[in-house]
Amino acid sequence: MEYFTFEFSLEVANKVGGIYQVIKSKAPVSVDELGYSNYVLFGAKKNDRALRTEVEQCELQNPIMQRTIEAMRERGVGVTTGKWLIESVPQVVLFDIPSVAGYLDGWRREFADKTKINGPFEDIEYNDTILYGFVCAWFIGEWLHQYKLANEDRIPLTICHFHEWLASVGMIMARIRKLNVATIFTTHATLLGRYLCADPAFDFYTNLHTVDVDYEAGRRQIYHRYCIERAAASLSHVFTAVSQITADEAEHLLKRKPDVITPNGLNVKRWSAPHEFQSQHQKSKEKIEQFMQGHFYGHLDFDLDNTIYMFTAGRYEYRNKGIDLFIEALARLNKKLMDEQSDVTVAAFMIFNGKTNSFNVESLEGQSQSKALIESTRKLQERIGQRIYKSVTQGHIPEASEIIGDEDMYEIKSKVYGAEGRPLPPITTHNLVNDAKDPVLSKLRECKLHNNWWDRVKVIFHPEFLKPTNPLLPMDYMEFARGCHLGVFPSYYEPWGYTPAECTVMGIPSVTTNLSGYGCWMEEHIENAWQYGTYVIDRRYPAFEKAAEDLADNMLGFCKQTRRQRIIQRNRTERLSDFLDWKNLGRYYTEARKLALARVLPENIQEEIELLHRAKMGAFKRTPSLANLSIAASPFNSRPASRLASQDDDEDGEKNNNEPIEDIYDDDGTLMFSKDMNEVEEKT
Ligand code: UDP
Ligand code: G6P
Ligand code: GLC
Repeated sequence: MEYFTFEFSLEVANKVGGIYQVIKSKAPVSVDELGYSNYVLFGAKKNDRALRTEVEQCELQNPIMQRTIEAMRERGVGVTTGKWLIESVPQVVLFDIPSVAGYLDGWRREFADKTKINGPFEDIEYNDTILYGFVCAWFIGEWLHQYKLANEDRIPLTICHFHEWLASVGMIMARIRKLNVATIFTTHATLLGRYLCADPAFDFYTNLHTVDVDYEAGRRQIYHRYCIERAAASLSHVFTAVSQITADEAEHLLKRKPDVITPNGLNVKRWSAPHEFQSQHQKSKEKIEQFMQGHFYGHLDFDLDNTIYMFTAGRYEYRNKGIDLFIEALARLNKKLMDEQSDVTVAAFMIFNGKTNSFNVESLEGQSQSKALIESTRKLQERIGQRIYKSVTQGHIPEASEIIGDEDMYEIKSKVYGAEGRPLPPITTHNLVNDAKDPVLSKLRECKLHNNWWDRVKVIFHPEFLKPTNPLLPMDYMEFARGCHLGVFPSYYEPWGYTPAECTVMGIPSVTTNLSGYGCWMEEHIENAWQYGTYVIDRRYPAFEKAAEDLADNMLGFCKQTRRQRIIQRNRTERLSDFLDWKNLGRYYTEARKLALARVLPENIQEEIELLHRAKMGAFKRTPSLANLSIAASPFNSRPASRLASQDDDEDGEKNNNEPIEDIYDDDGTLMFSKDMNEVEEKT
């Protein structure tokens, strides 16, 4: 028995946030499990340039699907079909939303008649949601029709899986039109949850059980959007959420408990030996150091070799992503390091997609002066080398003054004086559209983090996602993260949170919170997750001040690690990769599909479905043995201070896992961590 799976999301071949990562990284296991021609992803065409870089245009493999597309094209729908240029090159269909704009009034009316949901005309996002949703429902209806025509009226077994409310109108319409497909709706966040958490006046986690959803959605002028989300949750055959924390939220805000939790995985590529990813870290770090030399040109009075690189990144949601807490904790860390007269410097990067005009002049100037210095040093080296060579070939030992001439000294002096008097290194790399009101800049100013010479914490706000073509920091995001020492993602609202998970699979330790799906998942499955580089700080109960202090102490503890300890911890962190691999976590999607089919098909073929899925589930790896991981010892000198990470705080007063310390061996039997730290070989 074969079935077809269609997944719908506006982030198909369109990078926005984490949903893009879900769909993209999951593609290889989905294609593998569902069969190349039976699995298709449906998105919306963004623009021609993005299309060219993401998709190779071609026909769909299944002739009936292709006929379905042709039938839509004949009626004026702009549709691009092709292969998404990612691993496993899955088939994609991208609808051109402007091509169906003429239908907007009619579709809005039909939607309002059938559902009583009616959004304001000026809400462009709502209109696009309607257009995308109706065109998806059109495809589904046409597909069933074409299939029946070609197959003596037989109905194809089809699962339509919709991600996030923005893509869910197609599902609502498919259900209203009673189209014969099984539907799944996955929520990656709830609209109301996001809005309420962003509001400092609303204590979300205390009031979750009693929120007056209609009132709150209405007050925030998102009632029509909220209604779509709630309709999607209740109409889907199977409703899933990306984490338990979001499932609880959905139960209260969307009034339906998810049937399955579908945690997000990654497409993990392990290195054949730990030293390979360790040396990648070193290479990426050197690029970051190059940036630092330019950005701090004239102010590089700290040792780059004794600098810890921390960063936070993601969509620019100041409170939800915990940027406020990060900056507050950095200010405290700065003070702690100064009080201790530490010789460690922390460079803290904040990478968000804010609204900017351009790069700022000081940043560009610093980089170009640093590049010019590199160039003139190179020429100087060449000249000096030639003089030495000439002298030696003539059998003459040169005096220092013969090697470095006056003109060379002038050049050196001019560089030194040229760098003097440069303004303080900028705290942001770009000109922001609203500099005075920008929340990050305001908070940095409030906390007096100005990159002064005495500051042990230096800050760099890069309000744009990273790209290899960026003139200041020419790296892609993953490469940048790999070069850092610690990712810090102290989110207040985070249904899953890919950023710390991505750090883990690259072997980079990170901080997350017990308000993120990922943080809770790791806490639930990995004993003493912090020993494996996942620090989960408590943001559920403590006040902001306490959470900031805990985070600062965590970061301080991290700064006190030796290089050797960092290397060991990176090795351990990377060992959790398999646990986060879709080859392990993809099983939950299979479970959701199985349930969806079970809910639409008659009982007499249920057994067949059971067998089909048992075979498919067999393809998934067994969960790696977490028991083995959890015996590991702490590589730390100082213990992190957060309540969750601390070993001393156990309510039962028992000392736990810092002792006894076990030796840890690699799969190949190499000693990675010894009971006696001093005996450890620096194995990378
Ligand atoms: N990201 C990126 N470039 C950047 C910063 C972040 O591509 O410069 C990506 C990151 O790799 C991650 C996604 O943005 O996959 C953020 O996903 P997450 O689940 O953490 O949060 P969301 O934005 O979906 O709320
Ligand atoms: C990797 C490299 C080592 C380098 C180290 C720096 O392990 O293989 O050669 O010394 O990174 O570590 P750090 O934590 O100081 O960036
Ligand atoms: C949403 C959430 C994020 C999650 C992502 C993928 O955008 O904000 O926490 O990781 O979806 O599920």
